[in-house]
Amino acid sequence: MLYMIACVGKKNEIGYKNKLLWNIPEDMERFKRITMGDTLIMGRKTYESIGRELPGRTNIVMSRNIEYITHMSPIHMSDMQATILWAIKQSKLYNIGIIGGSEIYEAFIDYVDKVYLTEVHHSPKTADSYFPVSIWNRYVWEQSENYRITSRLTQDNKGKIEPEDVNVDFSTYTRKREDNGFKKV
Ligand SMILES: NC(=O)c1ccc[n+]([C@@H]2O[C@H](COP(=O)([O-])OP(=O)(O)OC[C@H]3O[C@@H](n4cnc5c(N)ncnc54)[C@H](OP(=O)(O)O)[C@@H]3O)[C@@H](O)[C@H]2O)c1
Repeated sequence: MLYMIACVGKKNEIGYKNKLLWNIPEDMERFKRITMGDTLIMGRKTYESIGRELPGRTNIVMSRNIEYITHMSPIHMSDMQATILWAIKQSKLYNIGIIGGSEIYEAFIDYVDKVYLTEVHHSPKTADSYFPVSIWNRYVWEQSENYRITSRLTQDNKGKIEPEDVNVDFSTYTRKREDNGFKKV
């Protein structure tokens, strides 16, 4: 199965200056639970923003720079089309997760079977990376899981904020294949 996992704000914001926008423990726990044991594909910027290999998972980092290496040991791929084909094939047997950022989500829109989405009912003051909303119009999706928690935000991407309780929705969307893969629009 090929899936995406993302945490978005009210306007689909996902990051600012190569950092996440919030630190929501329940979201981090869900991310770990869903992705553990899987092969994860991420952009070079997301990888650098995490700053380390995610343990217990195979980390694949996309970079156009074929000489990109790190002192850690993630697999590096530079050919997007080849990576997509490889991921589709592998996903028949294993779970492959697309974990961002925007450039990598965008490249995989047409291929994922599932989206694990966390929606934070908060708009950060600034953002420069967004989740590609075109995914929702392009295909038909069925929501199979939806629950809400309230989380206390004490900081955003600018630093400490007046503590604020925000609703956070966790959902799973599965792409309906009855459409035979035809696009909705
Ligand atoms: N909220 C969330 O769920 C979430 C999840 C993930 C990331 N984020 C945030 O998103 C932001 C980063 O996202 P981003 O869109 O700026 O960067 P990104 O997608 O993480 O990485 C972009 C990089 O990926 C490589 N790349 C992109 N397209 C490629 C292609 N066709 N072939 C080969 N390599 C390719 C390039 O690396 P080179 O420049 O080395 O060529 C490019 O600069 C950060 O703020 C991060 O914290 C948020």
